[in-house]
Amino acid sequence: MSSPTRYPHRLRLGVNIDHVATVRNARGGAAPDPIRAAREAVAAGADGITAHLREDRRHIRDADMEILARILDVPLNFEMAATDEMIGMAVRLRPHAACLVPEKREERTTEGGLDIVGAHDSLLPRIGRLTDAGIRVSLFVEPDEAVMDAARRLGAPVVELHTGSYCEAVASGDAGRTARELARITRAAAYGAGLGLEIHAGHGLALDSVGPVAALPEIAELNIGHALIGEAIFVGLSQAIRDMRAAMDRART
Ligand code: PXP
Repeated sequence: MSSPTRYPHRLRLGVNIDHVATVRNARGGAAPDPIRAAREAVAAGADGITAHLREDRRHIRDADMEILARILDVPLNFEMAATDEMIGMAVRLRPHAACLVPEKREERTTEGGLDIVGAHDSLLPRIGRLTDAGIRVSLFVEPDEAVMDAARRLGAPVVELHTGSYCEAVASGDAGRTARELARITRAAAYGAGLGLEIHAGHGLALDSVGPVAALPEIAELNIGHALIGEAIFVGLSQAIRDMRAAMDRART
């Protein structure tokens, strides 16, 4: 792992397009088209596109992943559960990155980080298969130092820190809780980067919460979806992305 990626000059923004597919699927037709959203996101400054193919295909579908893998000229981050089915698909499609997440059928969204301590033995060969296929593996985990150690032991080059609890704290208006959650992310980012991990973050980030996370110098990439697609209803997708990009840049400087 080379040091330049640990403290990148410019924080990357990965745009998650799952929720465009959620709206499409609500009517069972082809619109709004998540592929069009991906193209528009890239034109508006997204550094990468993230899409989560869930086991129940509730938003992104196999055909979406196939097209994204074929047409994108920015990195595709294939978010997935660490199942044989998904790993087989990733190995076939060869996205730039695979972000391994926990997945429960009944959850509304990815509710916590991956248990990489308990699942070490089952994850190790799966990470190996992805790595052997030239795919950069990222582990979506809780911001915790022991978890950073576990990621290092698994040989994954990247961790994505789950920012959900921090964002809930921001939304609650509880300044003490927000400070505690941000401190967890700050410590984990510094500790993980010190181990040589590339640090990403995401989940629940919005214009009112992104700044303090974007300001952390160790963080190389933020993956953001729901807030951007929600904001796009009012200002359009391009403007929503430009506003987020501006908030990230302001925090970074
Ligand atoms: N990163 C990961 C690993 C996720 O599972 C999600 C949600 O799909 C996101 C980022 C984006 O979260 P949000 O849609 O809340 O911005």
